[in-house]
Amino acid sequence: MVLTGAGISAESGIRTFRDNDGLWEEHRIEDVATPQGWRANPALVWGFYQARRRQLNEVEPNPAHAALASLEEGLEHMLLITQNVDDLHERGGSKDVVHMHGQLVTLRCETSGRSEHRMDAADLTDEFLTCNCCAEPQRLRPDIVWFGEQPMFMQEIYAAVDACDVFIVIGSSGHVYPAADLVHIARAKGARTVLVNAEAPMNIGAFDEVHLGKAGELMPALVEAWLSESD
Ligand code: APR
Repeated sequence: MVLTGAGISAESGIRTFRDNDGLWEEHRIEDVATPQGWRANPALVWGFYQARRRQLNEVEPNPAHAALASLEEGLEHMLLITQNVDDLHERGGSKDVVHMHGQLVTLRCETSGRSEHRMDAADLTDEFLTCNCCAEPQRLRPDIVWFGEQPMFMQEIYAAVDACDVFIVIGSSGHVYPAADLVHIARAKGARTVLVNAEAPMNIGAFDEVHLGKAGELMPALVEAWLSESD
């Protein structure tokens, strides 16, 4: 089982949240990443996420994304869970990706809760958009799990964590729960825990094996080694 965070997309040019130049240096979480922020100033929140959606057209997956696609291809069972809302895992070749914090490429109807893929040029301006699912089209919101909201697919994720034999975390600061706790659960169930991160994160004590450095530089060789170990 693999859990990725913002660090895996950093070398593709997507800013992380908590590094020195991170997104939360410039924006208050309460303003742009909470249901209260959306209610108070939807135009600000919409503009923030529309800019991030437009950025997807300017970035490419990096060697760490490609390495994870090869890992999936070479293993009998692998589940890739990401806290990232970009689509770089999919574009890097991963087939089965669980986005626990939502996705930028989809938007969610505020009334029905249904998500739709909306990445045409007309979907990327700062104008609000309406859904295709309701008889009277309703406003769409970013399909993002904000602070104070429940991460998605948690039942499936907890079941997989319970059953996994290796739990690998790549590029996450271990600040945000419940994602940061998954490694503790995996370890308690006997899984070998592995970390690949630029610097020592909050929850470093939970890892059996730590590789400090850039994911794009480390991952290709690590995946090659893991695949030869699993043969
Ligand atoms: N390779 C590996 N790790 C890196 C790289 C890199 N090239 N660049 C940065 N990192 C590491 C940083 O050292 C940091 O520990 O990635 C981590 C990124 O941490 P955060 O910015 O906190 O991102 P993440 O853990 O994904 O945040 C979790 O917080 O704001 C929310 O919902 C948002 O999903 C996000 C959640």
